Amino acid sequence: MRRKLIAGNWKMNGSQQANTALLEALLPAVTDAQAEVAVIPPFVYLAQVAELIRGSKLQLGAQNLAAATGAGAYTGEVSGDMLTDLGCRLVLVGHSERRSLYGETDAVVAAKVQAALAAQLVPVVCIGETEQERADGETESVVERQLRAALDGVAGRELVIAYEPVWAIGTGNTATPEQAQAVHAKVRSVLGDVLGEAGQATRILYGGSMNAGNAAALMAQPDIDGGLVGGASLKAQDFATICLAATD
Ligand code: PGA
Repeated sequence: MRRKLIAGNWKMNGSQQANTALLEALLPAVTDAQAEVAVIPPFVYLAQVAELIRGSKLQLGAQNLAAATGAGAYTGEVSGDMLTDLGCRLVLVGHSERRSLYGETDAVVAAKVQAALAAQLVPVVCIGETEQERADGETESVVERQLRAALDGVAGRELVIAYEPVWAIGTGNTATPEQAQAVHAKVRSVLGDVLGEAGQATRILYGGSMNAGNAAALMAQPDIDGGLVGGASLKAQDFATICLAATD
């Protein structure tokens, strides 16, 4: 069975004070969650958040990592080993904002997946089509291309896929459970093709305006194994409701 995972992607939000308040409100609520729960703050707050969640079941993730491994002359970059050092278990790779705003190609994403695995992190590989690609009937081909590129050389390693239709991110336009399930089923079949049996054990999260009102219906779909939550993860009550909606 696939245990559900709810991950809160804080994006470029937060302050030391706001993070403390958010986690204080969140921690008691997530104690009761059946799902695995992770928070994904900006790099600069990882150490603070690691301290605040110490001893709890909340997991820590990062939003990005360097494609380069090891250490060296990469000004402004943060390595996978540094994230592991701070207690991260997960790292987002290829979020659509990284792809669209910072030019991350499928090749960059693939390199970052390898860098994450080399640092013993679980990569959360983000894929998804734009509104135009969906209108042009290209949803499945885009998602398959992004996925196959990222899966090169991952056999035998744990990873998580996040299907996030770009048109649903931060827009309030959530995919319907049926729309999301259709793509998740496609992702599952590609995972099976590349990874064999392990494709069945790989979690596929949905992301894109998941909120307290729609999370349960989305996660009732057979291939939706949790959520990657942006805006709603900044509101303790809403995020807690989503976590509690994630039952096996
Ligand atoms: P959203 O963001 O929940 O605010 O749509 C999701 C994401 O970008 O991971």
